[in-house]
Amino acid sequence: MCGIMGYVGELNAVQIVYKGLEKLEYRGYDSVGIAYKDNFTVTIAKEKGRVMDLAPFVKNKSSDLAIGHTRWATHGEPNQQNAHPHCSNQNQFILVHNGIIENYQKLKVEYLSGYSFKSQTDTEIIVNLIEYFALTMPINEAIRKTMSLLEGSYACLVLDKKNLNCIYFFCDKNPLLLGIGKNGIALSSDITGLVGVADQYIVLEDKTFGIAYLNRYSLYDLIGLKINVKPKPILVTAADIDKKTFHHFMLKEIYEQPMMIRSILHKYFIGDEENISMKLLNKIRKCDKINIVACGTSMYAGMMAKYFFEKLCFMPAEVFCASELIYSTPLISKRPFFIFYSQSGETADVLAVMKKVKKQKFPMLAITNNVESSMGRLTDFCLDIYAGKEIAVASTKAYTAMIVVSAILARAISGIKTNLKSNLKGVSLAMEKVLHNKEICLGIAKELTDASDAFYIGRGIDYWVSLEGALKLKEISYIHTEAFPSGELKHGPIALIHKDTPVIAIITQEGTNRIIRSNLTETISRGAKGFVISSKSLSLPEDTFVIPNVAHYLSPLVSAIVVQLIAYYTALLKHNDIDKPKNLAKCVTVE
Ligand code: F6R
Repeated sequence: MCGIMGYVGELNAVQIVYKGLEKLEYRGYDSVGIAYKDNFTVTIAKEKGRVMDLAPFVKNKSSDLAIGHTRWATHGEPNQQNAHPHCSNQNQFILVHNGIIENYQKLKVEYLSGYSFKSQTDTEIIVNLIEYFALTMPINEAIRKTMSLLEGSYACLVLDKKNLNCIYFFCDKNPLLLGIGKNGIALSSDITGLVGVADQYIVLEDKTFGIAYLNRYSLYDLIGLKINVKPKPILVTAADIDKKTFHHFMLKEIYEQPMMIRSILHKYFIGDEENISMKLLNKIRKCDKINIVACGTSMYAGMMAKYFFEKLCFMPAEVFCASELIYSTPLISKRPFFIFYSQSGETADVLAVMKKVKKQKFPMLAITNNVESSMGRLTDFCLDIYAGKEIAVASTKAYTAMIVVSAILARAISGIKTNLKSNLKGVSLAMEKVLHNKEICLGIAKELTDASDAFYIGRGIDYWVSLEGALKLKEISYIHTEAFPSGELKHGPIALIHKDTPVIAIITQEGTNRIIRSNLTETISRGAKGFVISSKSLSLPEDTFVIPNVAHYLSPLVSAIVVQLIAYYTALLKHNDIDKPKNLAKCVTVE
């Protein structure tokens, strides 16, 4: 959600920022803008739409200083006026901002009564506050004074027309990374923007203020004391964020899953022992209940985790939707342990719960694909899911990686030496076989493209994958899709079945095989078009997609590939923007 990019250095800043914005597109946005030093002034171009819409404005332009922004509208509709960068009233300062300023109305009344505003954004308040305070104090102090008044979250870059040698930057509760390259300094909302421009980076702490020059930078805290942070090497390479020969990142990421499982095993096992801190395991062992908190796909991965904790460790576990939990007061057990699942590590709803839990001093763990994220920094313990960068907005490999890491964690907590490792190797092979038969998913997709509604059904763990299958299908194909426990159909949802409504049943568990089939038949008798995804040992000749047998509790990892492919091909046939579906963002930083 929103992306920031800035560069000051010997290379062409306009092109670096433009390319950086392209790399940040995956975060989700609806308008875009860029500002660059142009002789002794600053040129600004902004548009509603895609980064490529800026191409005519930046073509053949060069500069040593530029900032840019992709905006996902919160305050004010997506249009050119609301797009960033924003200028102060006297045009001295130019600013881009990620985040939300909660007290912007109050600040407007208190400090900016004589000011005029061109947009409906909260951002314009920040740039004008800087200008207002800069009338009576040096720019550094004016920015820090502004920071001290802002409530909410922000990551900002500022240009000062009176000093076009540097970029000022500051952040709080919104990610901002400083990249250090041989030829200059870059700033970006995430590491992808820095790839190819910088070799080292620093994740800026909350309430950091800084200045970046061509060949140096300084960091300060809110009261102006200098901070020293050791930069880390950037390990993500251009190849990691490249589509390679795939048409879409989503397909590439689906294909990466078998290999990813092998690399997770490599990271989390030393021989037959799990490579997980004993301190963490003992903390969890001492708790009386595991509370799992997440959103969307990560929450569905959390449902599998609950199953592992209960079945493999005999520990009670409950899954909470973060956006619900934050506004409710559930009964908390005497010795709770909290596990937060998040691909991005920046999801505002999850972060809000984490902060509440932290305040109450309950022990917690984050399981994430971004250990340096806000969640990674807030938590007591953190487990990396090692999925590698996920660019497509629709999450695929992060989902399966979370499930795999949860299974390994559950085994470690239980202390029981099961053959999970070899079972997971079997899963990796089974995933490859599914990918080999991807044409079947294309065939199913052809039957779905004209549908207005579709349903996934299952029971138990098959139902949880159904939830994920329905989410994937709706978010990229825009077909209204729901998942139901198949036994619930007759209690209401079956009323929605009409001629040719697609109903996809997932059947991988022996105990529920017969009953799901019978529930599916009930829908077919009412006109539904039925499809069955089944495990080999339970399959019937007429089933649509037969997946290889794996350990029964790991079958969701394999059926997940089928539902991901069905969603992918349906969206492909509908010519949708698969990697950047409408209205969605990869990194959901607003509640
Ligand atoms: C769906 C999807 C979302 C995310 C959700 C939480 O494909 O990706 O449902 O799972 O927005 O995001 P994270 O995992 O970053 O906390």
